[in-house]
Parts: sequence; C-alpha cells; structure tokens
Amino acid sequence: MISNRQILLAHTPTDKLALQHFQLCDAEMPSPQDGEVRLKVRYLSLDAASRAWMQGATYRAAVVAGAVMSGAALAEVEESRAAGFSAGDLVFADTGWQTYAVLPAKALIRLPKVEPITHLLSVYGIAGLTAYFGLLRIAAPRAGETVVVSAAAGSVGSIVGQIAKIKGCQVIGIAGGREKCAWLVDALGFDQAVDYKAGGTFEALKAAAPKGIDVYFDNVGGDMFEACLAQMRLGGRIACCGAISAYDGPPPSTGPRGVPGLIVVKRLTVKGFIVSDFYAERDAAIAELATWVREQKLKVFEDVIDGLEQAPRALIGLLAGDNRGKRMVKVA
Ligand SMILES: NC(=O)c1ccc[n+]([C@@H]2O[C@H](COP(=O)([O-])OP(=O)(O)OC[C@H]3O[C@@H](n4cnc5c(N)ncnc54)[C@H](OP(=O)(O)O)[C@@H]3O)[C@@H](O)[C@H]2O)c1
Repeated sequence: MISNRQILLAHTPTDKLALQHFQLCDAEMPSPQDGEVRLKVRYLSLDAASRAWMQGATYRAAVVAGAVMSGAALAEVEESRAAGFSAGDLVFADTGWQTYAVLPAKALIRLPKVEPITHLLSVYGIAGLTAYFGLLRIAAPRAGETVVVSAAAGSVGSIVGQIAKIKGCQVIGIAGGREKCAWLVDALGFDQAVDYKAGGTFEALKAAAPKGIDVYFDNVGGDMFEACLAQMRLGGRIACCGAISAYDGPPPSTGPRGVPGLIVVKRLTVKGFIVSDFYAERDAAIAELATWVREQKLKVFEDVIDGLEQAPRALIGLLAGDNRGKRMVKVA
C-alpha cells in the first residue's frame, strides 16, 4: 500500500535551524470527503519566511512542533470530490511538506498550463509576483532612479533587479560573496553589486550610489536596512518585503538606527506589503511577466533540489545563502 511520506517540524528551533529539528515519517494515504480533493505534490516551494513562521504567528498561523512542516507547493489533483476540479489539474496550495495532501477546493489556486511547470513557482509564482507588486506598486520607481535591492541573488531579489532594469533604473544588488555579486552583473544585467560579506557595506553602497538611493527594496532588515536608510534621497521609497536577517535565530537585541528620525527628515515612504494584497491583479501581472520572459528581458533562475527528504537541508541552505534564484524541491 502506498503511504504518505511526511516531514514534521519535530522541535521548534530557538537558535539556528538544524536537521535535528525535523523528522521524517510515513502516514496513511488521506482520502478526500465531499468538497475536497487529494493532491499529489510535484514541487515544494522553499521560502525563507517558513523559518519566520516557526517564531510565532505572522500573516499566517505559526508552524508548531509535532505538525507537518508548513509550505506551499505546486500540486496535481489526483482524486476530486469537488465541483470544478478534476484529476490532472495543476494547483498552488498550502500542502505542507508531504507527498499527498487533502484540501478543500476553496484552499486551491488553479494554475494555467505552462512549460516548464517550475515557472509556476518561480517567475509566475510567489517570487515573481512579490517582486512585481513590491517594486511597481509599493516603490514605484521612475526611469533614471537608483534602486537598491538586498538578498539580490535570491528568488525575489533577482527578479526585482531585472524589472527595475526593464523600467530604466540604475540597479544595485546587495548579496553575499564575490561570485554571487559578479553573477548579478554578468548574468542578470545589474549595474553594480555590493558584497555585504566583505564588510564595509555602508561605504561600498556610497561608492556605488554617490547621489543616494531613490528606492530600497528590503528583503533583509537589520543592518542592511540601516545602511540604506541613511543613504536615501529626499522623497525616497522603501518597500519592506521581508527581514531575513532576523529569521534564523533569537530576536535581535537592537533595531536599525535612524527610525523614525531619518524617515521624517528625508520625507520617506516606508511601506510593508504581503504579495496576496495584490491577488486581484494577479492575472495581469503574470501576463506582463510572461511577455518579459518571452522577449528575454527577464531571465528565470531556478534551483531545483531532488527529493522530499532533502527539504530540511534545502531550507537550512537557503537561509545560509546556498541558492541562486528560486529554490524548490522536486517531490514527484
Ligand atoms: N512580503 C511578501 O509577500 C514576501 C513574499 C515572498 C518572500 N518575501 C521575503 O523575501 C525575502 C527573500 O525570501 P525568499 O524566500 O525569496 O529567499 P531567497 O531570496 O531565495 O533566499 C534568501 C537569501 O537571503 C540571503 N540572506 C540570508 N541571510 C541573510 C542575512 N542575514 N543578511 C543578508 N542576506 C541574507 C541569502 O543570500 P546571500 O548569499 O546574499 O546572503 C539567501 O540566498 C525574505 O525576506 C522573505 O521573507 C516576502
């Protein structure tokens, strides 16, 4: 009999996430009731935010010890007892880290047929949409402006920088390591890149943007937010997308300096958002992203790891900066 392979969050981490926080197990194959479908998970989305969910409730419930590790996936309907869904349909859903999941039809987002299907998790998924809405709706850069993005070689950051180039901006990416920084410029077309692991981030940013920063797309928070805040131009905009520097460990003892003083003096707009705030515009955004991909103005980088069992290692690696572009786990 086929069982349902699952990865549980066995213990809630209080410091760095490690393999011993997870547990692999086999459960009974779930059966759908009326109004539900059984999904076969194809690709799990690996997301930095899933480490933040272990710290407590955010825009979604906390991930608790003993439960199947939370996470979204690209999945295929295997058996349907819900009107409107049939076997073979592709959906985006919060399946958790397991090979099969039973969910009510209202929890599914129907996906179009696209080749390769992995693009449904990268450029046409959360990563691409977060970059698109966060940059264009929250920060609204104008041609000629200087845009800085942190975690620039990651799934969201790599797309933010490319869209900013499409819009005619000067783009500076911040990433960890010389190789990643060279890749941002050579492969993705960023104008400049700053290696925060080399130290002296504030000075390196000043050299890269001597007239200051118009838009900062913040994926990191902490020191990087502080370094950019101090160099914002009058009337600049900061799109607060995430704070990965604060996810994997105990809460930081100090916050960024300059808040709110510099926000007042420089008349800055600092605005947070969650990608789902813009889901009413999702189809139009995907259509525009698809045009840029087709015209080869937007390059898609995917980092696919094989096997559900590898998911814990893949998430720990993502938090440490192993990935370039969108990291996902192929399950089936
Ligand atoms: N608001 C929303 O709706 C929304 C939606 C999706 C994602 N997000 C946010 O977007 C950000 C990126 O998430 P993702 O899942 O797409 O991951 P990702 O960018 O693909 O990968 C995370 C990257 O962050 C960098 N990083 C890790 N720790 C860091 C630190 N202490 N300081 C600076 N950089 C660090 C690493 O690259 P380096 O090698 O460069 O360190 C790593 O590759 C996160 O903040 C996430 O919460 C927000």
